[in-house]
Amino acid sequence: MASQETIKRGTWGSKIAFILAAAGSAIGLGNIWRFPTMVSQNGGAVFVLVYILAVVLIGFTVMLTELTLGRHTQKNPVGAIGYIKPRTPWKIIGYLGVITGVCILSFYSVVAGWAVGYMVKTATGAFRGEVTSQLTDKIFTEFTSNPLQVLVLLFIIIGLTAFIISKGVKGGIERWTKVLMPLLFVLIIFLAIKALTLPGAEKGIAFYLKPDFSKLNGTVILFALGQAFFSLSLGMGTMITYGSYISKSDNLVSSAGWVTFSDTIIALLAGLIIFPTLAFSGQPGNIGGFGLVFKIFPIILSQIPGGYIFGILFFALLSVAALTSTISLLEVPVAYLVDERNWSRKKAALAVGLFSFVLGIPSALSFEGMKIFTKMDFLGKLNFIFGNISLAVGALLICVFVGYVWGAKKAIQEIFSGNPKFKLRPLWVFSLKFLSPIAVIFILIFIKKITG
Ligand code: PFF
Repeated sequence: MASQETIKRGTWGSKIAFILAAAGSAIGLGNIWRFPTMVSQNGGAVFVLVYILAVVLIGFTVMLTELTLGRHTQKNPVGAIGYIKPRTPWKIIGYLGVITGVCILSFYSVVAGWAVGYMVKTATGAFRGEVTSQLTDKIFTEFTSNPLQVLVLLFIIIGLTAFIISKGVKGGIERWTKVLMPLLFVLIIFLAIKALTLPGAEKGIAFYLKPDFSKLNGTVILFALGQAFFSLSLGMGTMITYGSYISKSDNLVSSAGWVTFSDTIIALLAGLIIFPTLAFSGQPGNIGGFGLVFKIFPIILSQIPGGYIFGILFFALLSVAALTSTISLLEVPVAYLVDERNWSRKKAALAVGLFSFVLGIPSALSFEGMKIFTKMDFLGKLNFIFGNISLAVGALLICVFVGYVWGAKKAIQEIFSGNPKFKLRPLWVFSLKFLSPIAVIFILIFIKKITG
């Protein structure tokens, strides 16, 4: 029985183990695939600027808020809210998080499957010899037009995720992240340095880092805010769930700071690889499309000595980074079913995994040469609705709940444990109660105009 308990709700082996696992959730395709795609589609540097502001002013606040709520209640999102305000409609925050988790998992795993596929492609020599943008375009189109292949990869990703989750938090998550996240970081720095020295890189750097304010509009702000939530794994209770495993003696503020910082650095570095390489290969920065990074990374990899080996390593690490994020996406619904509905971890992981796989099928089949779902852009729609809107609504509700319903004062008491001074308190309270909710409400009100 004792060991059952440990599996149900373990604690992190150490503070650093928590930071690595939470960073493992945050760092993933959101940084390396979604961020450059968003930058490319939303005006370049001006998007980057708004994104950084959103991370610092709002993302960090919500991160600390979720961790605090999780550690205080020691529960999954639904349980956490119910613990503080039993039998009230506020529980909807938790349910929204559970649904959002399943929906994001479904399309996210499709792209994670691409990363695995590209690892194999690189290993089998698809990118040997001269790698041009025409070649990478062709390879991506062929790759995503093969239904059986993308579905098998989707199945592998979700199957692996469900397997790891069914083994419980400690054994499952910690082991992966300790070594592999730092390794990914080193490889990305290395590739960024190379990309910056490519002929023609300046054009890409200008697109990426020199803001053109005439491109600033509501869409840019909406997507930058949505991207901040997505990348930091906020707004659906992931960090509530992760916070529930943090020990009372840990400093929540510095933990939140480290996770936010490392996540943002990786995203910014990914951009430093993509845009100079795009310019080098003679393409404009705004070519967009979900295939962007899969078409660009093989080009930069072909430019470095040992590119074949580094290519395999890069896609392997990208797959692992994606996997540590899919784990956290599945953890939210599973923790809910285990804690609130008394399901076994195994049964919950299997059932939700299977459901997400089925839901992922139309996204997997909405590319290039396939007839069935191509026109509907299923992946794009789910990505927009759940990756932007749902997370923003969730973050708004979490801020209002903690700021006004539970009360900022009580939350501060929780933060004091492990950080008795909490110097950022006035700023955090201001952002929690006013800045963050108002910014999100503003964006949501204007969304009709933006999308219409
Ligand atoms: N933050 C992850 C990434 O950037 O790849 C994706 C993600 C994980 C979003 C967990 C939301 C979440 F709850």
